[in-house]
Amino acid sequence: MEIDRRAFLATLGTAAVVEAMPSEALADALEHHMMDTLDEQGAANNELTIRKGAGSIFGPGGMSSGVRTLKTLDAMPDKPTLVDFFKLRFAPATHVLQSAADALKKGEKEETILACLLHDVVLSLIKVDHGWWGAQMMEPYVSEKVSWGIRYHQALRFYPDPSVGYEYPELYNRIFGKDYVPLPYIKQTYEFARKHKWYMEARMITVHDLYAFDPNMKVSLDPFIDIIGRSFKQPKEGLGFDNSAVAHMWRSLMYPDHPL
Ligand SMILES: [Fe+2]
Ligand SMILES: [Fe+2]
Repeated sequence: MEIDRRAFLATLGTAAVVEAMPSEALADALEHHMMDTLDEQGAANNELTIRKGAGSIFGPGGMSSGVRTLKTLDAMPDKPTLVDFFKLRFAPATHVLQSAADALKKGEKEETILACLLHDVVLSLIKVDHGWWGAQMMEPYVSEKVSWGIRYHQALRFYPDPSVGYEYPELYNRIFGKDYVPLPYIKQTYEFARKHKWYMEARMITVHDLYAFDPNMKVSLDPFIDIIGRSFKQPKEGLGFDNSAVAHMWRSLMYPDHPL
């Protein structure tokens, strides 16, 4: 996917603002910019009306969309399922669907495919530290390995692993320069994850992430419905109403216009 460097940097603010941004924030902004561009195929704009870490559901379109109005949201069913959230809140979810499609095509195990499918959906709710938020939101409903992988993929993106063909994204070099250094907490997180027995659960998310920014690839949720049925523990009361420790996160996506 081609990135218009000037248009991307313009979404961040003035040159001084870009200079002052921590590298991790810049990298996240780049990923989100790519996802927004892919989802909406829109023109770039240079005016931000919300904090960059806010979830996409709270803002007027994506940062790069040029859309100045809030997306219209349909009401959710009384007992919403993960599929309902995909259709009514995460949609079009092009990036995660492409990522899961790549994992499926390459014969990954079901847990990895599910992790790829879920790895970035929390960006609708919040963008900053999305690995941690995303893992927490899914934790009651997926295996420990799946949420572990989601938590640590955020830090692993910056560190190559030739054993699985994951190179440091060339795109990051072009956008941020060769001397780009992630924040210390990201480095420490990477070092912890690198030594963990489940390292590959997170690493494979980053591998399939690389193949998930294709503007021409058409995807749908259909190939993943059975996997969701088998591997996602859908609460019978509906997501948001099961009294779990993260039910409020799902409700916040359901009711983003509630003032309190
Ligand atoms: Fe991510
Ligand atoms: Fe991603």
